[in-house]
Amino acid sequence: MVAPVLQAGLTPDFFPIGPDGLPQLESIDAGRSARARVMFVAHYFGLPRGLQVVQAWCRERGVTLVEDCAHSYFGQAGERPVGQWGDYATASLSKFFPVAEAGMLASARHALLPLGLRAPGARAQIKAVVDVFEFSRLHRHLAGLRHLLAPMFWLKSQMRVPVVPATSDLCPTDTLAMMESCDMGRALLQPTLAAVALHRILPMHRIAVRRQANYRALAAGLVGAAGARALFDRDVDQCAPYVFPLWVDGPQRADAVYARMRADRLPVFRWDRMWPGTPVDKGDVGTTWTRQVLQLLCHQSLSAADIRAVADATLQILRTH
Ligand SMILES: Cc1ncc(COP(=O)(O)O)c(C=O)c1O
Repeated sequence: MVAPVLQAGLTPDFFPIGPDGLPQLESIDAGRSARARVMFVAHYFGLPRGLQVVQAWCRERGVTLVEDCAHSYFGQAGERPVGQWGDYATASLSKFFPVAEAGMLASARHALLPLGLRAPGARAQIKAVVDVFEFSRLHRHLAGLRHLLAPMFWLKSQMRVPVVPATSDLCPTDTLAMMESCDMGRALLQPTLAAVALHRILPMHRIAVRRQANYRALAAGLVGAAGARALFDRDVDQCAPYVFPLWVDGPQRADAVYARMRADRLPVFRWDRMWPGTPVDKGDVGTTWTRQVLQLLCHQSLSAADIRAVADATLQILRTH
């Protein structure tokens, strides 16, 4: 979220978060809050929380609250539905739907002005449709249609664009390189029609229910894990989690466990890239989360057997480290 702030010509400031993932408001002094125009507050891991205190703090100071729902597309955040605390809410469709891109801006309070986004060209629209089928094929959803779809994949192979290295391979060390890897030019384009259509037609309820089931299965499968536990002791009946956050005791041990899990190609990630120049605040729980919270995917397309295998492999790695 730093890249769009910089692109808008603004200066980001950072606040620490507490053990619940919410801002430590008492650490923001009057001078900083007087300079602030907007505050971004995320519902981390898709485990949303009520934002009444944050909302009141922002209102008293004339700060616009943007509720960052990138991890939390569905459900209830305390007393209100997700997205209804902020003056504005933003969401990330690719984290919940099988689309390669697309974001959402919403407001329960304000009219949204037209963003003046350009439509992507015909080539990008066609590629987006083929990508959906190719992605499904990779995940073995369309085995029966293999021969029917072959000409489409051939066509796409003829219009390959130059390969862009994955962001993790770029390892940007400074702000400019980081901006480039965020590919902010895309922010000026409308989402492709394929992304919009999929978002409209896919069954939301099924996605939420599958994610809840996978989260609960991970929680149950990891009970008693050596030197590790669920980051939060809570149920997920009111939300659709993005990941299962697993706290691992000891930063160096967490590094080793994470490295092993990645090497074994388990569906796990960690926030291991910090924006250059981000101040390190000793009281910031977020800093410890970047190393010691391993985020296990609970995506709707993972089956009960997948989840069992991930939990068993994780238990085994934790035992041996
Ligand atoms: C908390 C948070 N906000 C916003 C974003 C941005 O979402 P997108 O990648 O769809 O731009 C992310 C992406 O990971 C995120 O984790």
